Amino acid sequence: MTAPHVIVLFGATGDLAKRKLLPGLLRLTQAGLLTDTRIVGTSLEQLTTEEFVAKARAACAEFGKGQLDDGKWEIFAEMLSFVSQSEGPHALAEAVRKAEADLGAPGEVQLLHYLSVPPKAALSVIRQLAEARLVDRARIIMEKPFGTDLESAVALNNEVHEVFDEDQIFRIDHFLGKEAAQNILAFRFANGLFEPIWNRNFIQHVQIDVPETLGLEGRTAFYETTGAFRDMVVTHLFQVLAFMAMEPPTSLAPGPISDEKLKVFRSMKTIEPHDVVRGQYNGYRGKEEVAEYSDTETFIALRIEIDNWRWAGVPFFLRTGKKLAEGARVISIAFKEPPLSMFPAGSNAGMQGPDHLTFDLADQSRMSLSFYGKRPGPGMQLEKLSMQFATHETASAVGVLEAYERLILDAMKGDHTLFTTAAGIEALWEKSIPLLQNPPPVRAYAPGSWGPNAIHQLIAPHAWRLPF
Ligand code: BG6
Repeated sequence: MTAPHVIVLFGATGDLAKRKLLPGLLRLTQAGLLTDTRIVGTSLEQLTTEEFVAKARAACAEFGKGQLDDGKWEIFAEMLSFVSQSEGPHALAEAVRKAEADLGAPGEVQLLHYLSVPPKAALSVIRQLAEARLVDRARIIMEKPFGTDLESAVALNNEVHEVFDEDQIFRIDHFLGKEAAQNILAFRFANGLFEPIWNRNFIQHVQIDVPETLGLEGRTAFYETTGAFRDMVVTHLFQVLAFMAMEPPTSLAPGPISDEKLKVFRSMKTIEPHDVVRGQYNGYRGKEEVAEYSDTETFIALRIEIDNWRWAGVPFFLRTGKKLAEGARVISIAFKEPPLSMFPAGSNAGMQGPDHLTFDLADQSRMSLSFYGKRPGPGMQLEKLSMQFATHETASAVGVLEAYERLILDAMKGDHTLFTTAAGIEALWEKSIPLLQNPPPVRAYAPGSWGPNAIHQLIAPHAWRLPF
């Protein structure tokens, strides 16, 4: 249960709102998790509330999961209103006051501003909120990217801090809202079994592999100025890496978790160009909105090292890219092999590399442990075995929230645990300086492949775990 809320959704007619935010808010309503709430949609479009409600319904029909059939749509539709951003701050303030009055508790309502707008527009929205006096009793959710390098991130944080305090700001990274990402914390810190071996003495290397089959699907202009490193690595992949690598926090409260993540970021070695493979799929340069000799990477693989006692000498390999052979979001931990093999020659024909613990961050998340055992039958032949646990098989229908749903709810409760901080983001940009100043040239790769061949040298003598 949350306090009465007015959610102001900036970019309410945009792509993210259609695909994730409106269907997500509807689902939270259906699950009984969004009571006493009004949602004021706003964007540069000129719409009446009726027109906005119709658009929201179409979005939920297209991107929701059969959610319009349970009779709760009407309840949700009643919660919606719309005001065009071009009508200015006073009209916005008026729309919020009306929504507060509707809730019957003006002056006591908590405001949540969701800035689902491009980075360039975020600052003008923040100024508009200040002019409309919608800052007290308010929290804001900001979307990535949080700057494009250290300088721009510091400038952005400073400007936002002129209006909002850090504890009012929720920088969203939807990978942290995925069930499986949170399961890393549960798995590591609720069990005595693995934490003692979670270090350089037992772990050989770690892979965080997020290949995508998707291309750019109408986002080419955005992507051409962003690239895979800024779009995926400096945000999602590094956040997941921090969950894998952090020390046990003093408690699960947001402050201690952010502190431990920050220590991981600060312990990372700077990212040097020779530890990075950048790729661009054949055909990208021919696309509209792409420069003729574009140097934007649609693929990136990196070797990251964390210079602390737990991880010294254990490489973390990260990979992500567009138009690759398979879509997956997999973290795998390769354990060190036994110091000597005592199995007779020929018995280990089935052995392919080390045993692994794998977290699959797919929506239907899964964890698995693969190890070697004896193949049944005469003699001693080894084979790879696997134990699997699928989260969704034990969850109730409303039990599993999608990442955005979970994170919106957390922001409403004022819980920063799964959000990123200004200091964390600035630390990551600082580590990225050598790469950003001197990026290695992009290498071509064929759509449908696993990226440029150089990725094998990057990870040698180990091998990429995918494809399984
Ligand atoms: C987004 C990136 O943040 O995450 C996209 O901008 C990417 O380029 C997407 O495709 C991946 O998210 P998910 O949840 O589909 O793995």
